[in-house]
Amino acid sequence: PDMMGPPDPILGVTEAFKRDTNPKKMNLGVGAYRDDQGKPFVLSCVRKAEAIITSKQLDKEYLPIGGLGEFSKACAELALGADSEVLKSGRNITVQTISGTGSLRIGANFLSRFHGGPLDVYLPKPSWGNHTPIFRDAGMQLKAYRYYDPSTCGFDFKGALDDISKIPEQSVIMLHACAHNPTGVDPRPEQWKEISDIVKKRNLLVFFDMAYQGFASGDIDRDAWAVRYFIEQGHNIVLSQSFAKNMGLYGERVGGFTVVCNDAEEAKRVESQLKILIRPIYSNPPMNGARIAATILNTPDLRSIWLGEVHGMANRIIKMREQLVAGLKKEGSSHNWQHVIDQIGMFCFTGLKPEQVERLTKEFSVYMTKDGRISMAGVTSGNVGYLAQGIHAVTK
Ligand SMILES: Cc1ncc(COP(=O)(O)O)c(C=O)c1O
Ligand SMILES: *[C@@H]1O[C@H](CO)[C@@H](O)[C@H](O)[C@H]1NC(C)=O
Repeated sequence: PDMMGPPDPILGVTEAFKRDTNPKKMNLGVGAYRDDQGKPFVLSCVRKAEAIITSKQLDKEYLPIGGLGEFSKACAELALGADSEVLKSGRNITVQTISGTGSLRIGANFLSRFHGGPLDVYLPKPSWGNHTPIFRDAGMQLKAYRYYDPSTCGFDFKGALDDISKIPEQSVIMLHACAHNPTGVDPRPEQWKEISDIVKKRNLLVFFDMAYQGFASGDIDRDAWAVRYFIEQGHNIVLSQSFAKNMGLYGERVGGFTVVCNDAEEAKRVESQLKILIRPIYSNPPMNGARIAATILNTPDLRSIWLGEVHGMANRIIKMREQLVAGLKKEGSSHNWQHVIDQIGMFCFTGLKPEQVERLTKEFSVYMTKDGRISMAGVTSGNVGYLAQGIHAVTK
């Protein structure tokens, strides 16, 4: 290349944060969970699984192209539910992937090669920033449907239905299964039902991105509700899963890509084609994280510790939302901050304007993306008051 590329917007925020010498500085850019002391959190179920794995003195032979079998099986069961008709009838295929990003990319490559319909993928407006280059680099065309309503800081249900009802038949639609990133705004069950109906009428292929199962409500089954509902309604979805957030396995890169097929024969054909896709990219996935996740999911004691810990992380975030709003009221803010409480998952779309974000960073050393998104996971009992002070100062 004869030109420098622009820096990554989120990782750029972290760079600026590192250079800041203010002891009160806060990094609310990156979406990684912190404990109430602001420290990275390794789940105790992960530590226990690691001890079990170490004690087994396992070998380091290559995994199969599709990854660790006991992981993929547990991964699909976690998403679809252990008693899922799809799994019982064997019309499922799951491959282990390099976390959620790798899963999305394998999915995008697969659709780009095999999807019979138009190669257009419709993303919610806005969507996770990486969705666009993932699908674009895989050769898909990016389109969008209305999703977020800035006037309510909530879901633009009517706009979404309107736009989806006009999507050309057999196109691909991306749906965030829960804890929509970056807005924290999810459809309610009744709204999901109407979306499912319209998507079916348009005969669209649904690509679910589930990067936060358990992280939204604290309950893994509740967070998978939309995915399971769509399947019950007869949608043969494709699904991307990540264990970065819900198991805190960020750097281990653990994820899965699942295709729900018409029947077991089709699942076999899809499996063979996924292997052909994966082989020249990275040959086969890394084993360590998949062993950890599989050990947690398949060992009843560890699984129940994990469920408690996911619940604990989700609850801490919900508590911080409440404390932030209480703090803003205490500062005397007259704005309605209810959306901070209503939004779901790791992120909060504050509604702050770019110039307010800039002031918050300059005057208070609070770092976040320009769109006004803050990671609630970086807020603690120790700094929530300071954050409220800062937000009030730039919005009054
Ligand atoms: C919506 C969404 N999808 C996918 C991912 C994938 O992350 P990872 O590749 O770390 O699993 C993220 C992470 O921020 C996300 O927010
Ligand atoms: C489908 O699900 C079943 C039950 O979980 C599992 O045993 C099987 O390996 C899965 N099939 C594929 C191809 O992933």
